[in-house]
Amino acid sequence: MDIKQQAAIIKEEFENKINEVKSLKELNDLKIGYLGKKGPIFEFSSMIKDAPDKKEFGIVMNDLKNSVNTKIEELKSKFEQEELDKKLQSEKIDLTFPSTKIKKGSIHPLNRTIEEIEDIFISMGYEVVDGPELETDEFCFERLNLPEGHPARDMQDSFYISEKDLLRTQTSAVQARTMLKYEGKKPIRMICVGKTYRREDDATHSHQFNQVEGLVIDKKENNVSLSDLKGTLEVFMKRMLGENTNLRFRPSYFPFTEPSYEVDVTCFKCKGKGCNLCKDTGWIELLGSGIVHPNVLKMNGYDPEEYSGFAFGTGIDRLAMFKYGITDMRYLYQNDIRFLKQFDRRDID
Ligand code: DAH
Repeated sequence: MDIKQQAAIIKEEFENKINEVKSLKELNDLKIGYLGKKGPIFEFSSMIKDAPDKKEFGIVMNDLKNSVNTKIEELKSKFEQEELDKKLQSEKIDLTFPSTKIKKGSIHPLNRTIEEIEDIFISMGYEVVDGPELETDEFCFERLNLPEGHPARDMQDSFYISEKDLLRTQTSAVQARTMLKYEGKKPIRMICVGKTYRREDDATHSHQFNQVEGLVIDKKENNVSLSDLKGTLEVFMKRMLGENTNLRFRPSYFPFTEPSYEVDVTCFKCKGKGCNLCKDTGWIELLGSGIVHPNVLKMNGYDPEEYSGFAFGTGIDRLAMFKYGITDMRYLYQNDIRFLKQFDRRDID
């Protein structure tokens, strides 16, 4: 048999085999089998040493190799194309398909209420100040006209951490801090929003809650009066709870104000008609307020002959509960996603 015939047999055998190949893997195996060492082509090429016409042998040999290679490459690109087509088909993007929802966090109802309060007072020219949550007895009580042993201290069951240090029970402490900061010289128009702590825990009380405190002090000739206090709280409450909210001032007692008032607002649930929430009165008690006591001015560096002003304070948790119809204060602190999810839209306000 001459070499051309031998080459033709190898080629035919190869073609028979390649026709059976069904995958890239099988093709790769065939390629190794034929072109690798120990394969029929390698074996064939080793016969060159005995070939009478080495040039002819070289040509036949190259033709055989080229033909095998070309067939392999052709089939390889066919398989690759098929694979690509399959992939394109399976990864086809349907632009009309509904998108997956991105989960967005929501602003906590307390923070939302706080932001709103700050916006209201900033729009009226108030400064927003901060104070420490770990307070001293001096600032939380003494400088607010509540000396040691004062019975009104009993109303605020406190967390003392040493004889003179406690978690503040009221943001009123920041009144004293602000007055000292301005050294009895400048008028003050501030609010302070922050956490406060008392030893109580039930559906309407939490051991940690939030208050907003307001303080306005000015020269006496500027006549900061009760009507300013009333007007300010009216704007505050109407903007928080709705334009139809009315206010009722009741004489009360707070050590740091004289005269003092508790302020009720129209019951948000029955709109003043009377219901179980407002105990059939139509009113809900919400704020404490009054004209700053001369002792407080004096103790914190302001001359009561020269300056006067008003103060007010309220619990933000209760305000948020009224505003959003929340029935248990503890929901505000449990981070239950089912609760928080209900506040993920600004336009429910
Ligand atoms: N600090 C009082 C409380 O926690 C609330 C309060 C009442 C604040 C009267 C005031 C005020 O500034 O004038 O019960």
